[in-house]
Amino acid sequence: MSYLAIARKYRPTTFDEIVGQDHVTRTLRNAILRDRVHHAFLFCGARGVGKTTAARALARAMNCAQGPTPDPCGTCVSCQEITSGSSPDLIEIDGASNNSVDDIRELRETVHYAPTQGRSKIYLIDEVHMLSKAAFNALLKTLEEPPPHVIFLFATTEPNKILDTILSRVQRFDFKRIPIAAVVGRLRSLADAEGAQLSDNALRMIARSGEGSMRDSESLLDKVIGFSADHVVSDDQVAETLGLIDRSLLYATLEGLVEGNPGQCLDAIDAVYDFGYELSQFTLEMLEVLRNATFVRLSPEARKYVDISADELTRLEALVEGVDAEVLNRTFTALLDVHDRVSRASRPRVVLEMAVARLATIRPVQPISDVLSRLEAMERRLRHGGSGSGSGGGMRKTTAGRPSRSRSDGGAGLSSAVQPLPAPPAPPAPPAPPAPPAKVPPSERPQPPQARFTEAPREQPRPEPAASPWDELCTALRILGAPAERLAQGVGVFRDGVLQISLPAGRPLAEGRRLRENPAVLEAVGRAFPDGTRVEVVPLAGTGTAADRQAALQRLVLDDSAMRRVIDGLDAKLEIVTALKEEGESDGPV
Ligand SMILES: Nc1ncnc2c1ncn2[C@@H]1O[C@H](COP(=O)(O)OP(=O)(O)OP(=O)(O)O)[C@@H](O)[C@H]1O
Ligand SMILES: [Mg+2]
Ligand SMILES: [Zn+2]
Repeated sequence: MSYLAIARKYRPTTFDEIVGQDHVTRTLRNAILRDRVHHAFLFCGARGVGKTTAARALARAMNCAQGPTPDPCGTCVSCQEITSGSSPDLIEIDGASNNSVDDIRELRETVHYAPTQGRSKIYLIDEVHMLSKAAFNALLKTLEEPPPHVIFLFATTEPNKILDTILSRVQRFDFKRIPIAAVVGRLRSLADAEGAQLSDNALRMIARSGEGSMRDSESLLDKVIGFSADHVVSDDQVAETLGLIDRSLLYATLEGLVEGNPGQCLDAIDAVYDFGYELSQFTLEMLEVLRNATFVRLSPEARKYVDISADELTRLEALVEGVDAEVLNRTFTALLDVHDRVSRASRPRVVLEMAVARLATIRPVQPISDVLSRLEAMERRLRHGGSGSGSGGGMRKTTAGRPSRSRSDGGAGLSSAVQPLPAPPAPPAPPAPPAPPAKVPPSERPQPPQARFTEAPREQPRPEPAASPWDELCTALRILGAPAERLAQGVGVFRDGVLQISLPAGRPLAEGRRLRENPAVLEAVGRAFPDGTRVEVVPLAGTGTAADRQAALQRLVLDDSAMRRVIDGLDAKLEIVTALKEEGESDGPV
């Protein structure tokens, strides 16, 4: 069975059969009913979305013996001739091969002859953007005042290449890519007509690969049906024929990223590689998985745009439960860059492995609720000179919607629903200089999620993979060593071109301020924040009272849109905000 078979065999003959272009077919139907059919149309849109099909349906509607009618009979001579492509009144011209002035001149001579069978003589010029400029100009006059029986139908995939003088003389219709569900619906009826057995999931895979083109989807269906002798096609066969990567490998990779398990990601990459798939195809499909994962976590409205089977959706939901949409979104962005590099790399596997290993190991930028707890922990460390410990990696919150047992007070607190991520291993801090307790005055609240935050203060230079521009800068500063590295002990927030670094008051602050003039520091800042215009160094510790501090914490929570939704959803009031202890951290000095 060849590709032409299905797409040609089942070319829609009426407006009603054309899927996903209701805005076009409705207008054309109405125009015919009201006898207000324009004499020149331009059909624009991607490949295989129904331009030629609609043009032929219009020709049939105009020339049917019982017409003009939006519902041609399909049996009269004219209808039959148009269907079989032998109608003398439908002149189809391929603009790509008949694009000279002479071709158009020839056309001009024939327009004056009356139609043979029907009422109208219809000129359908496909790929009209291929006409030469001279040919376009030769067409202009005829287009302006064609004989009453002539209709011009132009079709193109590249409307931007059509001269304005032509555009202003035609009625333009933009054909859309066909939604997956509509493609699946049509594929289902074609598969039934062909006696082929495929699951909904299989048809969805085909439709997704067709990227909104009905012709491409139909030709893929042909290919897939051709794969099996008995017309029973399994999902695996479909995936293999389409060159799709086994979905379970994609989900295994996502799981590895979510759980902070690089080994699992590397195993999946190994399997993908063994199958002989292009690694850039893998990253591309991972991007789609991450998109879906983000939408699943984002909101019920966003979830509507996740076009996967119910089974797969359940699996995805379980996988990313408790993961912040923000974090998934950032992973997507990081992976987009990886995809780019993998596509260009001479050794794509190495690039992909290193990138994925990093993504699975670093802790992504935390959502605001985690930042809260980390600020608390940082304060304690400053006060006691102690250190936190724990293991890094993974993007899953340790508890999702489950009250944490480590809560010390029994107060009503929304914070109980969220436990901080484990901290990355930090070297023990040396005996701390007497530092004032860090408080967060309202003016220096860290910004909600778009901001980036540091690790806990540390003294030793310890370069590590960067998770964000701020992390990247900290790494660079640590490499520069003293005194530049002092800045890396602060909390960095970048907003509106200004990098604000908060440092403990006293000597660190004074030193930090001097460092703003340091050329090496400025260069490092410039590299990490190419859009930055200014560096500000401000005191981290305020002199506020406990009440000030509570107010600041509450504002921090209320600024977070996710928290707001929770509070509004519960119709609750925020009473008290308590940050939780970090795992493995003790209260007293270590
Ligand atoms: N909207 C649609 N509804 C149903 N079938 C369609 C639709 N669009 C395309 N098809 C199927 O795809 C085949 C090709 O469609 P058509 O020739 O109309 O595409 P086109 O938009 O003209 O594409 P091209 O730009 O490549 O010429 C048709 O024979 C038909 O089977
Ligand atoms: Mg066409
Ligand atoms: Zn007819």
